[in-house]
Amino acid sequence: MTDQPTYTGPDRVFSGIQPTGNLHLGNYLGALKKFTDLQEAGWDGLYCVVDLHAITMPQDPALLADQTRQIAAAMMACGLDPDTSVIFAQSSVQAHTELAWIFNCVARMGWLEKMTQFKDKGGDNSERVSVGLFDYPVLQAADILAYKATHVPVGEDQKQHLELSRNIAARFNQQFDAPGFFPEPEPLIKGPGARIMSLKDGTKKMSKSDPAENSRINLIDDADTIARKIKKAKTDTLGDMPVTMEDMAARPEVENLVGIYAALSSQTSAQVLNQYGGKGFGTFKPALADLAVAHLSPITEQMRHLLDDPAEIDLALRKGAEKADAIASPIMAEVRRTVGFWQV
Ligand code: AMP
Ligand code: TRP
Repeated sequence: MTDQPTYTGPDRVFSGIQPTGNLHLGNYLGALKKFTDLQEAGWDGLYCVVDLHAITMPQDPALLADQTRQIAAAMMACGLDPDTSVIFAQSSVQAHTELAWIFNCVARMGWLEKMTQFKDKGGDNSERVSVGLFDYPVLQAADILAYKATHVPVGEDQKQHLELSRNIAARFNQQFDAPGFFPEPEPLIKGPGARIMSLKDGTKKMSKSDPAENSRINLIDDADTIARKIKKAKTDTLGDMPVTMEDMAARPEVENLVGIYAALSSQTSAQVLNQYGGKGFGTFKPALADLAVAHLSPITEQMRHLLDDPAEIDLALRKGAEKADAIASPIMAEVRRTVGFWQV
């Protein structure tokens, strides 16, 4: 599958965030901040609130639309401009579900059985979870490829799903004798924000579903809460801040805090150690808290402001859906022709 002629279409970015629970610092540094950096660098991008993915687990129908607005508001508050980038809800563009079906007939059961996220979420209960949860990564491939997107900014936890998307693209091109039809989308993961860990356990990722509220910084936390959570963040008993990267390697909690500082200040962790190596946590933690507050407060404020006027968010989502549909429709017409469906 590797000797295919390469895709020659334009570069395009696609990413998605589920409308489930509160967004946290991991979502911000692993995803949202990258979206705005890419927009600023001039990349064409589509940013999707993936409500079809959300319903692979039970959701309250009375809350789902509002949760979708909240994620859209967060995207805009972080700096995505709905006139420059395409911000929309997944369920309002038909191409996602149609292409997911076609990809269901391209992807192999064995590929999906290897997905660790399904094993984690399905647990020992795989008899009872929805078929949709198993099929989740196929829909994700359809999200990306319905726009022939070439680059996908995500956190480290999505690496395996992106690999599956690449396999589905390659297999489709081969099976339908359509070399280079779909690009094999590249994940954009690198950087200190790729995997933000829990503030309470440096070996677990920061997650919406962790019952410990102090384990994460939410985008809607106020300044005092952010400062308190950082001051209470777990460190270790090895003394001051490490001086070299090697010293830090065996100290996951410290490594995480330094990574957060680095990601927020657009530096490398080594640069942060140049500044803080050997100093006490009594110096580093307040500096990190100040940095986090300075960075996140304007976002929180803007999010609250946007949520006061849901009509404006709805308008942005409606326009976004039209723009997304206009890109996907001709691609889907080509897909139908390639698969051999009857059409006039
Ligand atoms: P989700 O909330 O699962 O829809 O994730 C939205 C985006 O945030 C995805 O790109 C994830 O990879 C990213 N993400 C989630 N948790 C973290 C984390 N702890 N560190 C870095 N990125 C994350
Ligand atoms: N699975 C991603 C997550 O949980 C969300 C997602 C759905 C996504 N479709 C996508 C991310 C397409 C990137 C591209 O984080």
